[in-house]
Amino acid sequence: MTAAPAARPVPQPGIMEISPYVPGESSVPGGLKPIKLSSNETPLGASPKAIEAYRALATELERYPDGSALALRKAIGGVYGLNPDRLVCGCGSDELLNLLAHAYLGAGDEAVFTEHGFLVYKIVTLGNGAKPVVVKTKGRRTDVDAMLAAVTPRTKVVFLDNPNNPTGTYIPFDEVRRLHKGLRPDILLVLDSAYAEYVKRNDYEAGIELVATSENVVMTRTFSKIYGLAGLRLGWLYGPEQIVGVLNRIRGPFNVTAAAIAAGIAAVEDKAHVEASVAHNDKWLPWTAAAIEKLGLEVTPSVGNFILITFPTAGGKDAATADNFLKSKGIIMRRVAAYGLPNSLRMTIGTAEDNHAVVAALAEFVGRK
Ligand SMILES: Cc1ncc(COP(=O)(O)O)c(C=O)c1O
Repeated sequence: MTAAPAARPVPQPGIMEISPYVPGESSVPGGLKPIKLSSNETPLGASPKAIEAYRALATELERYPDGSALALRKAIGGVYGLNPDRLVCGCGSDELLNLLAHAYLGAGDEAVFTEHGFLVYKIVTLGNGAKPVVVKTKGRRTDVDAMLAAVTPRTKVVFLDNPNNPTGTYIPFDEVRRLHKGLRPDILLVLDSAYAEYVKRNDYEAGIELVATSENVVMTRTFSKIYGLAGLRLGWLYGPEQIVGVLNRIRGPFNVTAAAIAAGIAAVEDKAHVEASVAHNDKWLPWTAAAIEKLGLEVTPSVGNFILITFPTAGGKDAATADNFLKSKGIIMRRVAAYGLPNSLRMTIGTAEDNHAVVAALAEFVGRK
């Protein structure tokens, strides 16, 4: 006897286990002008050249974009020294993470990532019927030994955000190589280098050389952070020929808009704007971290454009109370309980004025006015 049909359409296994992604908030009650530090956006905005390129496109909206985004891939290739044939662009790096999971994960498979890994890893893993295998960190840093110990015959993908969002910690590239060496060749290592442009450490690499010399490593990048194009949704991936061929088969034929292509080319080629963003972060990341630490709050050392602030659990000074207090001053940080960090808030480095406002508000919150 065949089973009676369900009363309504039933989604694929895993989908209903997903907790929908909650983006950073952008408004505060009471009509205050918000200081939005919840999504790691750049305080410098997009390159004026990218804004101009975007505007210039307004008269051509009836045209489809170039489905392969060739001019953009050539521009990225030129700036980063990469073969454009080995690049795939996407509607944010989120889309690329989704496509990778769709191509390489299915029922019975496992994907490994850390307990503080970017939330999208879990979403795309469950969304493709696979099992998330969540690995403990050591001092909020990726623990390569623990990652390797979590690998089973069912592992198909390892996701690594380096630097990690939301902790801001990173692992030196020797450690990434050690992780790669310990993986079977049929396991895909996804190096998510969304914050690579901000990192100033001699032992850090975004992953270009490892991708170039391996068959099972890809690197994803984004235009949402240092390039200031989060609203346009644009990301890119560098990968081996075979994986690029797989992604080009399953991506939407026009997955990147004409506006994103035009603005992306101008943004990636505006080196002065990128340098200004790096210089701003180099100045304000240490300033903000030190000023908040001086208030007696714990700040996890970060190499990105954001910091993780941890609050005491007792004495009415916990993260939830701090979040509400900050909001009453118009300041929006990111709650990170969903990342296993219920006592912390993540703050994006803002303008000089924003950072001063945060330090003043936190001083008031902890009673050190
Ligand atoms: C680690 C990490 N990867 C990927 C992304 C997604 O970026 P995009 O805007 O390109 O989808 C983010 C955004 O917050 C991130 O923090």
